[in-house]
Amino acid sequence: MPKSARAEVQPASLEDEITQAAIERLQEGGAGRMQEMMISLTRHLHGFIRDVEPTEEEWMAAIRFLTATGKKCDDQRQEFILLSDTLGATMLVDAINHRKPGGATESSVLGPFYREGAPDYENGADLAEGETGGESVLVSGRVVDLEGGPIAGAVLDIWQTAPDAIYAAQDPSGSSYNLCGRITTEDDGRYWFRTRKPVSYTVPGDGPVGAMLEAAGRHNWRPAHIHFMLSAAGYETLVTQLFTDDDPYLDTDAVFGVKDSLVVHYERGDEGLRLDHDFVMTAT
Ligand code: BEZ
Ligand code: FE
Repeated sequence: MPKSARAEVQPASLEDEITQAAIERLQEGGAGRMQEMMISLTRHLHGFIRDVEPTEEEWMAAIRFLTATGKKCDDQRQEFILLSDTLGATMLVDAINHRKPGGATESSVLGPFYREGAPDYENGADLAEGETGGESVLVSGRVVDLEGGPIAGAVLDIWQTAPDAIYAAQDPSGSSYNLCGRITTEDDGRYWFRTRKPVSYTVPGDGPVGAMLEAAGRHNWRPAHIHFMLSAAGYETLVTQLFTDDDPYLDTDAVFGVKDSLVVHYERGDEGLRLDHDFVMTAT
């Protein structure tokens, strides 16, 4: 039955009563944060249903979609996180949990390809393992506090795609740390390392989230970026990414991770490509 016809045969008050009853049931039992979240979830879910007035087939299709999303998850693949990412929910949670004062480096999504246990390198090291192709780039800068003072001993945990658009974490052998590594800042807060210019890549498109993106007329590309997780005693851990300014997907990142302050320019000089970037951390 179309939305307009349904609206005429049933008083709106009955529909409101159902919402009210579901919320009152939650108000009677439970407590604290769980109760608060369940009441809000119920209110928003009913609001969504009221807004779109799904047919029963549409509601079943939504349930099938969520079921397929769960079934696609295993030890290697987390389709629900990808759903959260592609709906912008991950970045909203990130923004709420990492509100920062002006001047501090902004955060971005961690993503599924963080490679824990990456090797510790000296400043100046090349993060590439053997012949990895791509364009070599020297990345350098300082890690400072909000006043511009150097943070010595800050650890930059770095990971990115190889030129074939694959992360070390995706290597089936499980032993690759290509283009992953940990660099520690010197006494003056400086760091520098060599890597390869990152490339754009697609988030997994062969599951229900891929089908959802296609149905919504969206692509599954992420603009090229280098991931960083910075940690230093007395400072809030900073998870962020630096995006290449000439990338065609900057404005349509599939996971909404781009922030203007994180878009950087690679300079071409006599000695090849260079990227200079300072990170500003906030005290805990
Ligand atoms: C990433 O940047 O590695 C990423 C983030 C979210 C989903 C997929 C990949
Ligand atoms: Fe990434």
